[in-house]
Amino acid sequence: IKTSAVNQAHHLTVGGVDTLELAATYQTPLYVYDTGMIRQSIAAFKQVFEENQIKYQISYASKAFATVAMYQLIAAAGIHCDVVSGGELYTAQQAGFPMANVSFHGNNKSEAELKMALDAGVGCIMVDNFYELAMLDRLTRERHQSATIMLRIAPGISAHTHDYVSTGQEDSKFGFDLNSGQADEAVKRAQTAPNLDLVGIHCHIGSQIFELDGFKMIVDKLVSVFARWQTELDFYPRIMNVGGGFGVKYTADDQPLAPTQFVDAIIKETIVQTKAKKVPMLEIWIEPGRSLVATAGTTLYTLGASKDVPGIRKYLAVDGGMGDNIRPALYQAKYEAVLAKNPTLPSEQVVSIAGKYCESGDMLIWNQALPQTEPGDVLAVLDTGAYGYSMASNYNRNPRPAVVFCEDGASQLVVKRETYADLTRLDVPLTVASESKA
Ligand code: LLP
Repeated sequence: IKTSAVNQAHHLTVGGVDTLELAATYQTPLYVYDTGMIRQSIAAFKQVFEENQIKYQISYASKAFATVAMYQLIAAAGIHCDVVSGGELYTAQQAGFPMANVSFHGNNKSEAELKMALDAGVGCIMVDNFYELAMLDRLTRERHQSATIMLRIAPGISAHTHDYVSTGQEDSKFGFDLNSGQADEAVKRAQTAPNLDLVGIHCHIGSQIFELDGFKMIVDKLVSVFARWQTELDFYPRIMNVGGGFGVKYTADDQPLAPTQFVDAIIKETIVQTKAKKVPMLEIWIEPGRSLVATAGTTLYTLGASKDVPGIRKYLAVDGGMGDNIRPALYQAKYEAVLAKNPTLPSEQVVSIAGKYCESGDMLIWNQALPQTEPGDVLAVLDTGAYGYSMASNYNRNPRPAVVFCEDGASQLVVKRETYADLTRLDVPLTVASESKA
């Protein structure tokens, strides 16, 4: 824990705001974001590209955390974003996000979603498969519209990461397979589609990646393929989009490179490879999600019941759990927590942090060292900013928490806490006739 994140009362702060005050004002569970940290991470990515003097684009993968306020923040930072559903696109529209700076991803976009994207005028559609390519070709002809596209390819390279979140390997539901010639065929079809402008190639090899080799391998592979396409297909991709996946530090065991080190390596490798293979220098796009928001987010919970299993384990239960953070249950993801009232106190016990959901797997943290605690204490689970709120559910009919942005000592509510009335808002009661059926 950074000492700068503790105030004079020894309370944990986020964006200069006292977390005990946040818990008192907005109640718990509560997602709080240090928005200054998000801006700094964006600035750091920009700096690497600018130091290397190359053309680039940073596109925030908004699936990591999407709300109207977040799209506004991203728009103000002057970078692009990508969306993967009509719902994310709608949210970005509500935020007034410039549609020309939006890329639309997804392996099964519906016709309605594609029409919505064309109506909105999104900057780029990331075409994933032949079905989509044909549909987009037809739609743009019927509507006398054009669309800028990139093709998503599966490069046959997987990053060493958890199976559920690795996407670049051959046996994946995403993208045109490179090794079997599908990608070549897709390029040819896109070239003959009169209203589609194919500007680049996209790939994404996984998430929470800790090593450079995967990225270097995709750069090598893509530039080689581009060299072949120049001569065989007269296709010169202008943009190489290498996706996201830059790993972040969740626990003391994680030793990731700085996200900017990945990008620096990608840039340098691209310069070397394009020169060697006589390919014009490419514009490089990245799509960071987690690395922009994970460490900026903290979840505040209130401690309640506890249970001692003598000689085995002490469980401390919080007022949230898998409904606001599914990652430990789904991926065995690890987090660390501190006591908000004084993160610097020495530990006196090892406890396991349980959620309140009716499921044994609803455990947020196994074996967390903490000082003595009592019911009512506020527990801060750190680095929960990515894929927490965005993967939240109403399991057990628990309302989803509020979201608060904090910066320079001030806080702002950006998502209201759901109410019980919200939970039944879409429910339709039985009619009298069906109610009386035995
Ligand atoms: N671009 C594409 C095409 C992606 O599929 C993803 C993530 C990203 C960018 C952003 O990756 P990031 O920089 O956030 O690693 N729910 C999982 C992560 C799923 C990632 C899916 N795709 C988790 O909680 O770990």
